[in-house]
Amino acid sequence: MIVIMGATGTIGSALLERLVDLGIPVRALSREPEKLRDQIGEKGRSTTEVARVDASDPESLRRVFTGASQLFLAMSNSPRQIELETSIIQIAAESGIKHIVKISSPAFEQSSPVAVAGWHQEIEKTLRESGLTHTVLRPYAFMQNLMNFAPTITTQNVFFGSMGDSPCNFIDCRDIADVAAKVLTNHEVSGHIYTLTGSETFSYPQIASRLSALLNRPISYINMEPQVLLGNLVEHGNMPPWLANHVVEIQTMSRMVPESPNDTVKRLLGREPRTLDAFLHECVENFR
Ligand SMILES: NC(=O)c1ccc[n+]([C@@H]2O[C@H](COP(=O)([O-])OP(=O)(O)OC[C@H]3O[C@@H](n4cnc5c(N)ncnc54)[C@H](OP(=O)(O)O)[C@@H]3O)[C@@H](O)[C@H]2O)c1
Repeated sequence: MIVIMGATGTIGSALLERLVDLGIPVRALSREPEKLRDQIGEKGRSTTEVARVDASDPESLRRVFTGASQLFLAMSNSPRQIELETSIIQIAAESGIKHIVKISSPAFEQSSPVAVAGWHQEIEKTLRESGLTHTVLRPYAFMQNLMNFAPTITTQNVFFGSMGDSPCNFIDCRDIADVAAKVLTNHEVSGHIYTLTGSETFSYPQIASRLSALLNRPISYINMEPQVLLGNLVEHGNMPPWLANHVVEIQTMSRMVPESPNDTVKRLLGREPRTLDAFLHECVENFR
């Protein structure tokens, strides 16, 4: 039995859909399992168990891990992420889970620190020390993040950042989910660390010109000093300071540490990764 922690999330929901399509039995978890009942629909009912869990409640973790052999672990970022994921890993090991597939982030760079990457580094250490077989997926920026720009693009034809024109690795979350499905179902490729990218890099100015062409109106990228972006995200975007800081730190890292694509997704899946053009085309109505 495969347990999916984060089954309502961006990657987890795509993984659940993939495993339902493959007819593989899973236990999908959420703090609000009723959301999952709608998500799995008629098709997934015979192969999917739905269960309630809260990572801050150890008893609920013990209950949902009973009888399972593999765990997919994607947790939303929060200042409690190290504490919650550490508890999940320890209880999974005590409960007899043999293999954990963890969603991590690109490696921590001393020259351009990203606090959340440091959290993932700590959690990866816990995984190593657990003695469990583990597969770590380190994806770069999700294409799906670009949907966060929809409000200002639809109302003002602009989006903001502090990344300048540096090339950035983007990956479609559905490719991350497909890789997760592969490592959960083929043990020959499990037990490794995989850094995941799409097949091309894109800068924000390049994305602005792609969107302009698709929407048939000019869309501009406005570059800001990191501290100005930070203030805007907190004051006008209502972001908690730790999250605004994270957004600024990853954009600084993209400027400071050159990004380039690798062929890991193609090697694992035997096909090219989904492209940014295809993603923008699919989502264009959200930017009208
Ligand atoms: N965004 C990026 O570009 C990017 C790039 C690299 C790495 N990452 C990493 O990707 C991870 C997030 O993946 P994602 O975007 O697929 O996740 P997500 O959409 O943020 O969803 C995460 C899941 O966490 C679950 N969750 C949160 N708190 C929980 C709790 N206390 N107990 C049980 N479940 C809880 C939520 O379930 P319920 O709400 O249903 O309970 C939800 O399904 C992060 O660790 C992030 O660092 C992101």
